[in-house]
Amino acid sequence: MYTLTYESTAVKTLTSAEMESLLDKARTHNKSENITGCLIYYKGKFVQLLEGDKKKVQELYDRIVEDPRHKKVTLFSEDEIVKRTFPNWGMAYYPMDDEHPNKYELEQFKRNLILLSDLIEPTNLTAKHFWIKTKTMIAEPPK
Ligand SMILES: Cc1cc2nc3c(=O)[nH]c(=O)nc-3n(C[C@H](O)[C@H](O)[C@H](O)COP(=O)(O)O)c2cc1C
Repeated sequence: MYTLTYESTAVKTLTSAEMESLLDKARTHNKSENITGCLIYYKGKFVQLLEGDKKKVQELYDRIVEDPRHKKVTLFSEDEIVKRTFPNWGMAYYPMDDEHPNKYELEQFKRNLILLSDLIEPTNLTAKHFWIKTKTMIAEPPK
């Protein structure tokens, strides 16, 4: 098996409805290809981890790179793996923008994500890099 993680910048702020439609398609496709992972969206930036069969993950990544909804897609880690980090998630998702109009709620959500990242013990370097990037990203205060 294989895993990769990349970061990118959203071309425009995605509404919850647009994000839901993206996730719906992604989850259906990933399930059929036995791909799992996690997507974080915060302040117009994405970080995503994908894992599964090498050829399938690379094919999906090639498609994602071409997606006009984001730019500056940068792969920052990849690995051969034996164990998945998100075995039960077609695509786990952490929305952290307009769905949290309440500042307190957003802070709570961020704390939960950091807590989660401390509980999950990464079994490969790419998962480790994914969490470091996520933590760095959400450490930035919202606008
Ligand atoms: C940030 C981001 C993450 C995405 N993640 C996935 C994903 O995990 N799985 C998936 O099938 N499509 C994902 N997509 C959507 C693909 O880029 C593409 O639109 C989708 O696979 C449908 O491709 P098609 O229109 O060529 O069939 C993502 C798009 C973006 C912008």
